[in-house]
Amino acid sequence: MTDVTRRLFMRAAGVSAMAVSHTTASASRAGSKVDAVARVIASGNGAAATQKAWEVMQEGADPLDAVVAGVAIVEDDPRDTSVGYGGLPNERGIVELDAAVMHGPTHRAGGVASLQNIRHPAQVALKVLQRTDHVLLVGAGALEFARAHGFQEENLLTDHARRIWLRWKETLSDRDDWLPDPADTEPPVAEFFRQHSELVAATGALRFRRPTGTIHCSAINANANLSCTTTTSGMAFKIPGRVGDSPIIGAGLYVDNEVGSCGSTGRGEANLQNMSSFAGVELMRNGASPEDAGMEVLRRIAKTTEPRLRNAQGQPDFNISFYLLAKDGRYAGVTMFGDVDFAITDERGTRLEKCRPLFK
Ligand code: GLY
Repeated sequence: MTDVTRRLFMRAAGVSAMAVSHTTASASRAGSKVDAVARVIASGNGAAATQKAWEVMQEGADPLDAVVAGVAIVEDDPRDTSVGYGGLPNERGIVELDAAVMHGPTHRAGGVASLQNIRHPAQVALKVLQRTDHVLLVGAGALEFARAHGFQEENLLTDHARRIWLRWKETLSDRDDWLPDPADTEPPVAEFFRQHSELVAATGALRFRRPTGTIHCSAINANANLSCTTTTSGMAFKIPGRVGDSPIIGAGLYVDNEVGSCGSTGRGEANLQNMSSFAGVELMRNGASPEDAGMEVLRRIAKTTEPRLRNAQGQPDFNISFYLLAKDGRYAGVTMFGDVDFAITDERGTRLEKCRPLFK
């Protein structure tokens, strides 16, 4: 631990002691149970991440270091095409990553957006928090900063992601010069498109939905200190320079150490328009349970969604999910639609639980 980091965490310890007593007092007034329950939650692709973060936290690590260590597993995994190495690229075939971190005890935050060539953007975001007076670095500046801190550059575009991108590009239009492989010889790529397509009842045609994966991970330790991170390759085939919600504090993640933490996966634009993670924490501050807070955020998004993004029933035609963790250890996963898991590790072990959907 460097001197700067040690000072940061010593200051954090002082702040957290005050935060615990304040929250205990207000929650007692409300008559709810206040136990500091150590726990890590994440999006459904994060079971390995919550397990790792839990283990690191059990060894005494700060919750922020724990969640960053946890999501590194997913950033490293080439099979997850929504995060880090192996993430799907922008429309030009270049992988651009977004990530942010937020530390409850100090209320400090760091983020990077449109970062190329560095597979662990959450670690760079942590460095922004620890080693700059800023909160968000983007593009070339973020890469220069990462290089200065010794992060190695590499090509993040795996062959699998390149082939998916190429097929998307070749099937986008019949008015350009890119022709798809007529033999369709790549089963994993075809399978990817099948998984992300749906039948349009009116026309009988299959419509491809661009994936918006991402991992969010939040942790609370036995001293009731919270932290979180969100890391992503963003919307597949986005316009170069598009920044989603993941690196934006208040949109893709937010923590208030006196209240709780909230983070998201799914269509980032909806979170940017609604400051959803901040809203989720504020709703908990005003007494909502994690589940009620998450459901209210979903209702707000559903209400404000523009007509072109609504389905025949008038509901949003995209999915978006929230993961909420309260200061007293209560937690919830909620989602706009369907059968979506979230991951959790606590003293009962690591498991997947179901997000509660707003629409069936
Ligand atoms: N939620 C990830 C993104 O939209 O970039």
